[in-house]
Amino acid sequence: MNRYWNPVKTIEGAGVFHRLPDVLTEMGLVSGKLLILAWSDQVWSHPVFEALSSFETKKMVLTLSNPTVSQLFQCYQETKAFSPDVVVAIGGGSILDVGKSLCYLYGKEFAHEDALREWIQKKDTSRPAVQWIGVPTTAGTGSEVTCWATIWDPEQNAKRSMENHSNYAYAALVDPELTKGMPAKLAVSSALDAVAHAVESYWAKATNPVSRALALEAVRTIMGQMENLLAGKENAPEAMARGSMLAGLAFSNTKTTACHSISYPLTMHYGIPHGAAVSMLLAPVMEMNAVCVPEMDALLNALGTDSPQILGQQIRLWLQHSGQPATLEGWGVPKQELPRLAALGMTKGRADNNPVELTAESIQQILESIY
Ligand SMILES: NC(=O)c1ccc[n+]([C@@H]2O[C@H](COP(=O)([O-])OP(=O)(O)OC[C@H]3O[C@@H](n4cnc5c(N)ncnc54)[C@H](O)[C@@H]3O)[C@@H](O)[C@H]2O)c1
Ligand SMILES: [Zn+2]
Repeated sequence: MNRYWNPVKTIEGAGVFHRLPDVLTEMGLVSGKLLILAWSDQVWSHPVFEALSSFETKKMVLTLSNPTVSQLFQCYQETKAFSPDVVVAIGGGSILDVGKSLCYLYGKEFAHEDALREWIQKKDTSRPAVQWIGVPTTAGTGSEVTCWATIWDPEQNAKRSMENHSNYAYAALVDPELTKGMPAKLAVSSALDAVAHAVESYWAKATNPVSRALALEAVRTIMGQMENLLAGKENAPEAMARGSMLAGLAFSNTKTTACHSISYPLTMHYGIPHGAAVSMLLAPVMEMNAVCVPEMDALLNALGTDSPQILGQQIRLWLQHSGQPATLEGWGVPKQELPRLAALGMTKGRADNNPVELTAESIQQILESIY
């Protein structure tokens, strides 16, 4: 049986952030309390905020990247007394993940950080008390259309996932105008993260025909504009924003696989940005998975490549052209660390969703191939 479900209202295109007041009206809100989280105070100069004067707003800038349990706890402490009706999260995957997580923390009591950590591990799926609207400013993680959030826990050497099928955003406002100021490194790494979401959704054990159709379109949309993105061409951000959203819709129903699983310790222990870590793994994982992927030709065709090896060369060039390393050595990972990183790369829910079984040995080989 094939099933697909995603309830997020997507509004996408240049300038759609101006539609925020209309979306709030559709939610039945003409007044009330809005918690607005933003990645930078430059967001506040957008004219849309002038149209929100009937609301009581609490505005917060969060400069964090890869939110931790500790940072989430602090945000919850600082905002729970305000008790918002809606959370509007404007930022990259990190801010979207904090915004959506807060929605299901409100109404619950956490005396200290460890209480929150324990609660996350319990995987409570009670209905969130508050709804949220996602406004991505990177392109991107697709977090605006997924129901889980990645919360990092460096103190416990773990990556945690907050997941709740009742916690999809009410709406996603995907406005490429908001992504235009991204530095090249972030634009390229987040675009390649989206490619990985689509490709992994295509071959995931939990794949389905709707996700595969979305994945192919996402890959075509992004890969066709990567050179233009690096060249700073005008129409590239629009393609990246749309492609990233399509990839998000694809993997919202399948989750990711080996590339994401293996990437988490690379980000947590060596600070490799999420998209860069995932994208370096894409070609070697594709080489390993190829025998088990039906309709591999359609995927290669959408990627605009003949083989995983050529894709790998292309990705390395894009990372380098955007000013970031394309190997583990370049990111400062000592070679003797590979066995430990390989053992940590078996992430539950991701490694076991890969079409080919992963072992610490096969992960180590993959890590050696991108060293
Ligand atoms: N929930 C999901 O479905 C999902 C999917 C993939 C990744 N993630 C998570 O998302 C996080 C990564 O998100 P990301 O790649 O979007 O990066 P990010 O949100 O961590 O942002 C990276 C940096 O870019 C800045 N930034 C954001 N928008 C900008 C803009 N328009 N211009 C200039 N700078 C900007 C941020 O302030 C931050 O310093 C990771 O924690 C990852 O695990 C979540
Ligand atoms: Zn990702």
